Amino acid sequence: MPSVDTSLDASLDASLDASLDASPAGSSAVRPLVRLRDVHLSFGANPVLKGIDLDVFRGQAVSIIGPSGSGKSTILRCITGLLRPQQGEIEVDGTRVDRLASERDEIELRKRVGFVFQQYNLFPHLSVLDNLVVAPVRILGRDKAAATRTAYDLLKKVRLADKAHAYPGELSGGQQQRVAIARALAMQPDLILFDEVTSALDPETVGEVLTVIRDLVRDGMTCVLVTHEMRFAEEVSDAVYFTEAGVIVEHGPAERLFGAPANPRTQAFLAHTPGAPGAPGVLEAQPHIPLQLDLSRFAI
Ligand SMILES: Nc1ncnc2c1ncn2[C@@H]1O[C@H](COP(=O)(O)OP(=O)(O)O)[C@@H](O)[C@H]1O
Ligand SMILES: [Mg+2]
Repeated sequence: MPSVDTSLDASLDASLDASLDASPAGSSAVRPLVRLRDVHLSFGANPVLKGIDLDVFRGQAVSIIGPSGSGKSTILRCITGLLRPQQGEIEVDGTRVDRLASERDEIELRKRVGFVFQQYNLFPHLSVLDNLVVAPVRILGRDKAAATRTAYDLLKKVRLADKAHAYPGELSGGQQQRVAIARALAMQPDLILFDEVTSALDPETVGEVLTVIRDLVRDGMTCVLVTHEMRFAEEVSDAVYFTEAGVIVEHGPAERLFGAPANPRTQAFLAHTPGAPGAPGVLEAQPHIPLQLDLSRFAI
């Protein structure tokens, strides 16, 4: 073999080794954007997460489904660093979230991870437009004119261009939730976490919010969705995780998990969940029963 090729190969190998060594937790070629390993979290004596492993790759939509109280919101709050587990590793784009040392690091992380809740939490005294402009200007230091242009583009994306100068109180729940999604996008995050964002909505506005999320997923935005909208989860997700009592009972591609769940617990959950593929016809009759039940459990 010509020596020049050998040295080139050797130097490529060396730089590849170096980059792999530099990565904190291993050697896979494509690292997940979000990676949880053996995450344990208790509230006092109450163990809520009992060894969670979860991977979200860039551009994927991953759904977390499961009964109320099973730990879904807690997983999302761990990913944003709002909660710190007692054990395990949480990584977002190479940053060890479970080891963030300062408030500054926490703020840096939250700039990169958008979070949309069941409650929209818009600023009621600011117009829709200003709700989208304030954080990019104040937190990211963006130029106000540029942030305003971006805000208009995002309002178009969520189909609310005509509401730029309205106030949140003048909008329906579905419209406010779409503003909340646009506000998260205005920070240009690496990924967005959605925690039951349609659960508090009137049935007639659920679809418009799901349409906006579907568009985002198709555009390649990395999304983690906690949802009771099983048909939607099946349609948009690359992977689905089923949680129960703080453990991931089963996970896999959406088609497989919904079409042929392997674990009896997953089978039972899907059979009793309105809108799940295993429970035909129930969605139309009783669209919001599990969503109402879940309202009482929601905690930020
Ligand atoms: N701040 C908190 N303090 C104490 N217990 C909590 C807190 N937040 C959640 N929990 C408990 O943790 C468990 C999981 O909650 P959560 O992650 O919100 O479940 P899910 O989102 O799946 O409904 C529940 O038993 C809940 O009561
Ligand atoms: Mg929850």
